[in-house]
Amino acid sequence: MKQMLNVALPKGRLGEKVYAMFEAAGYPCPSIKENNRKLIFENPECGVRYFWVKPSDVSIYVERGAADIGVAGKDILLEYTPDVYELLDMKTGICRMAVAAPKGFRDDTRRALRVATKFSKIASDYYASRSREIDIIHLNGSIEIAPILGLSDVIVDIVETGTTLKENDLEVIETIVPISARLIANKASYKFKNEQIKALASHLAQQLQAEE
Ligand code: PRP
Repeated sequence: MKQMLNVALPKGRLGEKVYAMFEAAGYPCPSIKENNRKLIFENPECGVRYFWVKPSDVSIYVERGAADIGVAGKDILLEYTPDVYELLDMKTGICRMAVAAPKGFRDDTRRALRVATKFSKIASDYYASRSREIDIIHLNGSIEIAPILGLSDVIVDIVETGTTLKENDLEVIETIVPISARLIANKASYKFKNEQIKALASHLAQQLQAEE
């Protein structure tokens, strides 16, 4: 009997796109579309078991082996540096990590820059590489409000269309790194389910090429 591959998908809009890519690559699981409360779905014929998890938790499941593979944003991989293999750029969920500030902002280099963000490590690494002293204010969401209320000077956050920034009178002042979704694998699974994981990754890669 085929060994099942456990696949952690990021719940939400990105996850739906990603599932469609797995389906097109030959790993469908029709029941996934029928029930929106259930979190685990399997298709023994294709040897896959999908489960929906919070996007920022995908790499935890994969690192610890609860999932053999998964799809996580590069932002999460850079922030939490999980010990996993990154197998493929899925070329979806494309956005960038950027520094944004209120229009007309000028950096006063005599004092520490106050940076509000959900991505403390990415922000710290970025400013360390530029030898700029900062004061990190770690927030969990609605980061755009921080400079408006004077809690921070700038923010480090994900920018996709730029609408959120625009609507809050902020603008990108620096791009830190481009972001997209990545296929990741647990290191032990990659050894013990090597054939299956490689086959799946290459079917996905072919599918991506065909779409180009
Ligand atoms: C992200 C980010 C911005 C927004 C940017 O939030 O934090 O708020 O998307 O997108 P835009 O440039 O297209 O406006 P997300 O919706 O991922 O959820 P979050 O609030 O939990 O971070």
